[in-house]
Amino acid sequence: MGWKTYSISGIMATIMTKYIVANWKSNKTITGAQSWLEQYLSETSNTIHHVKVIVAPAFHLLSVFADTNDTSLSLAVQDISPFAAGAYTGEVTASLLTGLSVKYAIVGHSERRRHFGETYTQVAQKVDQCLQNNITPIVCVDKAYVDQQAAALSKEHLEKCIVAYEPLAAIGSGWSEDVGTVQEVEKHVQAVFGEVPVIYGGSVDAADILDYTLVSSGVLVGSASLKIESFVEMVKKVEAALK
Ligand code: PGA
Repeated sequence: MGWKTYSISGIMATIMTKYIVANWKSNKTITGAQSWLEQYLSETSNTIHHVKVIVAPAFHLLSVFADTNDTSLSLAVQDISPFAAGAYTGEVTASLLTGLSVKYAIVGHSERRRHFGETYTQVAQKVDQCLQNNITPIVCVDKAYVDQQAAALSKEHLEKCIVAYEPLAAIGSGWSEDVGTVQEVEKHVQAVFGEVPVIYGGSVDAADILDYTLVSSGVLVGSASLKIESFVEMVKKVEAALK
């Protein structure tokens, strides 16, 4: 895949970068995160230039990454409040993340939709909060509701998103979507959202990561991102393929 020009947060950026987003979900303690990060840095030591590695740890782990100045590594949250700061017990709002170097937020993950009843409207409010606070939203969708989710977003927000195509059946199941379908969905997403980066998520591992990065802007990886060995293997494979 060659150079592509995308509009992210209003800035036109010419990239041939691939995204690898590590979604840790509700896993890892502070010591677990510290050792993952130490190993990541020593195994890659500023040799990753074409892959944009985005780590999405749970909120209590964000400060572990705060002083990391490895240029390949960015920080994301796995969710964000649909509200601005105020009396919302338990919520972490986008503005509260100031100073933690959070550049991305996963929003609308199917686990949030399924376990917490998140709606298209709430996802749209979360996108709004992200963009008001200079955080790029990574909006998760499945085929069946790309259109409804897009329709709930403000028109001017559509092109500022990264979209993750995440077939429900592929998440945490060991089964991954066939590459042809990923390409079809990517086309559809771009017809609806505009020329946004589209990444694929669902049981991606070191064995198949190149199949997906070849046809999309990258991947969202859950289980296989937790073990540093498999994660570094994935990052290095994609970096080598892009050189
Ligand atoms: P998985 O998770 O890689 O464990 O399937 C992906 C996701 O939930 O985004």
